[in-house]
Amino acid sequence: MSSSPYIVGNWKMNGTRAMLAEARAINRVAGRYAGVQVALAPPFTLIQAMADEAQAIGVGGQDCHWQAKGAHTGDISATMLADCGADFVIVGHSERRKDHGESDAMVKAKAEAALAAGLGVIVCVGETLEERDAGQAEAIVAGQVDNSLPSLEAIATVADGRISVAYEPVWAIGTGRVAEVADVISMHKAIRERVVAAYGDRAPGVRILYGGSVNAENASSLLAADGVGGALVGGASLTAESFAAIIAAAGVAEG
Ligand code: 13P
Repeated sequence: MSSSPYIVGNWKMNGTRAMLAEARAINRVAGRYAGVQVALAPPFTLIQAMADEAQAIGVGGQDCHWQAKGAHTGDISATMLADCGADFVIVGHSERRKDHGESDAMVKAKAEAALAAGLGVIVCVGETLEERDAGQAEAIVAGQVDNSLPSLEAIATVADGRISVAYEPVWAIGTGRVAEVADVISMHKAIRERVVAAYGDRAPGVRILYGGSVNAENASSLLAADGVGGALVGGASLTAESFAAIIAAAGVAEG
């Protein structure tokens, strides 16, 4: 399994050029934690400038189209992301699934397009509160994993560590209500089983991240939980101060 924790900030629809100063500060922090892989996914408009200015971190998109080019007004392809300096993309975030009606099949096609363009990919999955209350959380998430991950053929030539699954329970996103560590462990175990079923001996190269109200206070216990390979962080990634505390929880500073 890829051993370094992967700490990814998803800025969502936040950030104008003034916020590049935060990215530069996060980049400086990341440079002191060689054992932690740090990345930011800013809005499309900031990717190129951030990739130019922040060399110690990965920079990625928050979505891509599944086709490389064409008549898709307002969309951006994985090829375009790679062209402006991105090295990964998040696909299937619950906000995209909900706001833009994205299905598992669309998410899978996006993930495969990302890999074909040479990008790493983070595939998001997670149940709603209604699904959890109905006792369906594991079945829903297992189905999303089975149907949203790129095919075994699509990952054949992709290096280990380039594919991650982010488990983000919808009810924990932006709510301050973080999942119980025991529930995170059991869901990550269930996801791992599905990844092994899909990828066999390639499965150890896939990290499983937790996302949903991760902050400086809860990061240590979540990141120490069995099967958690990192965190996908929304609100607490918007300032260097709060994101640095999460990076610090994931590793040991040098120098
Ligand atoms: P919050 O950390 O703001 O809950 O957002 C989580 C998330 O959706 C990251 O993709």
